[in-house]
Amino acid sequence: MAKQTWKPGNMIYPLPAVMVSTADKEGNSNILTVAWTGTVCTNPPMAYISVRPERYSYHMIKESTEFVINLTTKQLAHATDYCGVRSGRDVDKWKECRLTKGSASSLKYAPVIEEAPVNIECKVKSIQELGSHHMFLAEVTAVQVDEAYMDENGKFDLNRTGLIAYSHGEYLDLGKKLGTFGYSVRKKQAGRKSKAAGGKKADAQNADGKKVNGKNAVSRKAVGRKRTKARRKADR
Ligand SMILES: Cc1cc2nc3c(=O)[nH]c(=O)nc-3n(C[C@H](O)[C@H](O)[C@H](O)COP(=O)(O)O)c2cc1C
Repeated sequence: MAKQTWKPGNMIYPLPAVMVSTADKEGNSNILTVAWTGTVCTNPPMAYISVRPERYSYHMIKESTEFVINLTTKQLAHATDYCGVRSGRDVDKWKECRLTKGSASSLKYAPVIEEAPVNIECKVKSIQELGSHHMFLAEVTAVQVDEAYMDENGKFDLNRTGLIAYSHGEYLDLGKKLGTFGYSVRKKQAGRKSKAAGGKKADAQNADGKKVNGKNAVSRKAVGRKRTKARRKADR
């Protein structure tokens, strides 16, 4: 396989492209699109966004120490791009994108975007001045989810909301499901046991380092029964 070696750069894709809503203490609010974002801790739940200091939103986040990560969908793709190429210095992005300000349940200043299926309310804990971008490390103080995507058992079906990803300059929808958390190990359990492993079950860990197979494994039936709970935990 012939590979080219490139100079160092950012090449971790796909990413979410989220709309971050924020406000200053006088009540001026704004939205900017952010792809440099992610989860950094399960407990306490923590996330980050990296923002260039020259962004109009930067000082709002710094002043109020509040922002909301609003997940984006196919329906919101146009607004997501617009909020990433126009500045709140020049336009009212709420008005231009026909987005609705809603109340955060745990924040004083930053509003949520009502049209987003998930609003992740964040309170800044520290700011790391990394270089081009300053990273706002924040605690998640509440999450609002759209009840329209709840099934009859009260399970929130996030993947029915039409989430989009951002990869190498392009917005993409999420395509078809390839498996569920831990499926590679479950397949081995059900069918062929690895000869190389001497018939022993391979241990796998979820993102939290908890075994999902092996000593602490639960039966496939139990996995099925606990599916709702497991799915909620799967990405942590
Ligand atoms: C897909 C996409 C991702 C972006 N990601 C970031 C980011 O992670 N950090 C950042 O500072 N700007 C990012 N931007 C650029 C800002 O969203 C853009 O400069 C915006 O106009 C800033 O708005 P403001 O001046 O109203 O704050 C991104 C833009 C797009 C389109």
